Amino acid sequence: MAFKSHEHWSGRLAFVMAAVGSSVGLGNFWRFPYQAGEFGGGAFILLYLLCIAVVGFPVLLSELMIGRRSGLSAMRAAGAIAQSLGAPKAWNAVGLFGTIGGTLIVTFYSVIAGWIIAYLPMFVNGALADVEPEEAGRRFSELLASPGRQTIYHAIFMGLTVFIIARGVKSGIEKAVGVMMPAFFVMLLGITVYAAFVGDFGKAASFLFTVDFSKVMRADAALAALGQACFSLSVGSAIMITYGAYTDRDISLPRSAGVIAASDTFVALIAGLAIFPFVFAYGFDPQGGPGLLFVTLPSAFAQAPGGAIIGVVFMLLALFAALTSSISLLETVVSHAEERGANRVVAAVAAGGAAFVIGIGSVLSNNLWADVRPPAWVPFFGGQNFFDAIDFLTSQLVLPIAAFLSVIFAGWIMTRDMTADEFGGRGAGYRFWRFTARWVSPGLVGLILIAAVWSRLSAQYGG
Ligand code: PHE
Repeated sequence: MAFKSHEHWSGRLAFVMAAVGSSVGLGNFWRFPYQAGEFGGGAFILLYLLCIAVVGFPVLLSELMIGRRSGLSAMRAAGAIAQSLGAPKAWNAVGLFGTIGGTLIVTFYSVIAGWIIAYLPMFVNGALADVEPEEAGRRFSELLASPGRQTIYHAIFMGLTVFIIARGVKSGIEKAVGVMMPAFFVMLLGITVYAAFVGDFGKAASFLFTVDFSKVMRADAALAALGQACFSLSVGSAIMITYGAYTDRDISLPRSAGVIAASDTFVALIAGLAIFPFVFAYGFDPQGGPGLLFVTLPSAFAQAPGGAIIGVVFMLLALFAALTSSISLLETVVSHAEERGANRVVAAVAAGGAAFVIGIGSVLSNNLWADVRPPAWVPFFGGQNFFDAIDFLTSQLVLPIAAFLSVIFAGWIMTRDMTADEFGGRGAGYRFWRFTARWVSPGLVGLILIAAVWSRLSAQYGG
């Protein structure tokens, strides 16, 4: 069977913007702040940074290498390299896991991004201009209680994603990120400067950077930090394999990976520094959970001078960040379908349609299905609603496992010649990557996964 080859990025900037666009997203604005809030701030962040450095970055580089080496979609990339080395084709598991993870993520990602679309007009027409915290909470609950409204916004967001992907790598993805990413960075900078003047920056900084180790020496916090690192960098979801396959040989992968990881980490920290000053200045609870962005922020903006405009800018910025991530999430499957001869438009509509339908489960877990939960004895998923279950399954199990497989594959199965060629040399940087990919990343991921599974199961059945 003849496979169709893929369109390539027009250059380094396009590739890096698309990859930064993939990693910077709701993970930075919505997930990172509330997770940091839940697990105690500074200590969680320290663990998160450690996971980015010794797991996220080496995995990111490994995935890019696997992708570019093979030039194939993620589901065939590792298998093809393995076969060329006489290893089993079953190494396709690397991309298969990731593809499943990424495709499941986009189902709920689009629902959350839909909330942003719902809030945008409310900010624009001033409906939130002087909203009190209780009123903000009520509005958010109203949105969550309405399957119809959430489904409409979820459909709009998924529609936008499909529209961009259907147009192709260069005229779709590249063009979209080329407009949205620069706009995003300008808005982010503006908001942070504003937050520094208006909010309680000192308290935010001390919350984010004061480390209390007792809060993170727990397996669930460690797994959450690892999961957040994978989620935020878009690793373990086969996306970087996909994007790597579209990359020309003259582009330096380690340098690009450095820019991607640094930008993503910078944005997460900056997002924290832009959000928490408001939270503290107006006396809200930093442990606001997933609603932090939608309840706390509108009420804080309502009290801050010029908050109405800031609200619009913030939601727009979050929307852009979400879109450049969701296109990457869906692209992995579409890329595979296209390789097998499917028409890109048909593939994008079909994949987006399927993800939309599964996403309705997440919409309903906020209302009609709120009480539909597996019984408590079900391992891992007992008592979780659909949304929580998919979030946990993907970020805390599938992504870390796929990340583990990617580094093992790049570190142990691919030959030194191959990876050095992709890295662009055998200097100290290369040796450091290879050592980390072979020993440190798999070791840490393995340790955290085992500890977390153990502690979860013993909490569930132990007493
Ligand atoms: N990294 C994206 C974010 O932080 C989400 C994402 C996760 C994208 C996994 C791709 C893969 O929002």
